Amino acid sequence: MCRHERGWFAAWWRDLVPARVDGGLAIGYHRWVADHADKPPASTTGAGGAAKPDAPKDARAMLAMARGFLEKKGVESARLEAELLVAHALGLDRLHLFLELDRPVVPAEIDRARDLLVRRGRREPAHYILGLREFHGRPFAIGRGALVPRPETEHLVDRALERAKERVRDGLGPVSKVLDMGTGSGCLATTLALALPAARVVGVDSSPAALEWARRNARALAPEACDAGRLALELGDMHAALASGAPWDLVVANPPYIDERDRHTLAPEVRDWEPAEALFGPSGDPDRHALAILEAAPRVLAPGGQCLVELGHDQAARLRPLFPRVEGIVARVHKDLAGHERVLELSRPD
Ligand SMILES: C[S@@+](CC[C@H](N)C(=O)[O-])C[C@H]1O[C@@H](n2cnc3c(N)ncnc32)[C@H](O)[C@@H]1O
Repeated sequence: MCRHERGWFAAWWRDLVPARVDGGLAIGYHRWVADHADKPPASTTGAGGAAKPDAPKDARAMLAMARGFLEKKGVESARLEAELLVAHALGLDRLHLFLELDRPVVPAEIDRARDLLVRRGRREPAHYILGLREFHGRPFAIGRGALVPRPETEHLVDRALERAKERVRDGLGPVSKVLDMGTGSGCLATTLALALPAARVVGVDSSPAALEWARRNARALAPEACDAGRLALELGDMHAALASGAPWDLVVANPPYIDERDRHTLAPEVRDWEPAEALFGPSGDPDRHALAILEAAPRVLAPGGQCLVELGHDQAARLRPLFPRVEGIVARVHKDLAGHERVLELSRPD
């Protein structure tokens, strides 16, 4: 653990561990007390087990405190996230939280809510705290060590599935070999293994922590594909895998593409919590991975094969002048819903 992490850990521990009062007789006074709306709900019992008058009595009061606390901490979607975190603490979904606003809350639930809110107040991503992120309609388990799947990345899946239909229509047959470069949570590899039943999908990542999430998701969401050997998650370098497993029918990649110099512009949730190796281009070069894939495409794609690479919002403009130099490959760029040039598609004609 580095110095910076030790400092973070110590602060986190101080806030969560109850202070011991009177030789341990009265445990339960946390630093966080609900004397202001900008504090997360405190325990309902204080020293000696006495009821604390200012603890929330019901879900409605807990929600109001949670929202005030997150607003004070500068969380952008404080209202929505307060709902999600309070619902999670109460073991409800958001709809049922609203149906049960008058439901009394018990001390264990208040403690649970407080812990979740303290974490969020430290700007830990809500999806890490909730432990889930939906991707292409499926719930992916997520936490420290893997990038939270983003909606933009769903465009890669949509385009891959369109292309799979075109292949069948053009008599090329189904997609049979797929590589997911830098699989992270395994969101792309697992989704594609489920959507392309004739394909063998390999997801590769150099981070052991990310790979654990990927394997967990693959096993939970696509157990049959795993058992049939159609979905494999491997530790390694993605460019080495691209070369050694060629030829591929489909390659998908959402490589790290943020410029290190833009680190200060990132939200604390991203900058301080998501893995650096998932965010920043290697050696300060945000284009390094996309360029390597562009250069390798003629050698690694099977006839009729396709590479889909997610791009940062300003990358296409830098890469476009290089397209004509890549022989035997048709390159085009697709926009996302926000109008950003987001997906680089490299196709090898059949
Ligand atoms: C931006 S994340 C994408 C994760 C996932 N595919 C997604 O879209 O949510 C990039 C991933 O690439 C991995 N990575 C970075 N460099 C790599 C390399 N040289 N070889 C393999 N994986 C790498 C990181 O560990 C990270 O999990």
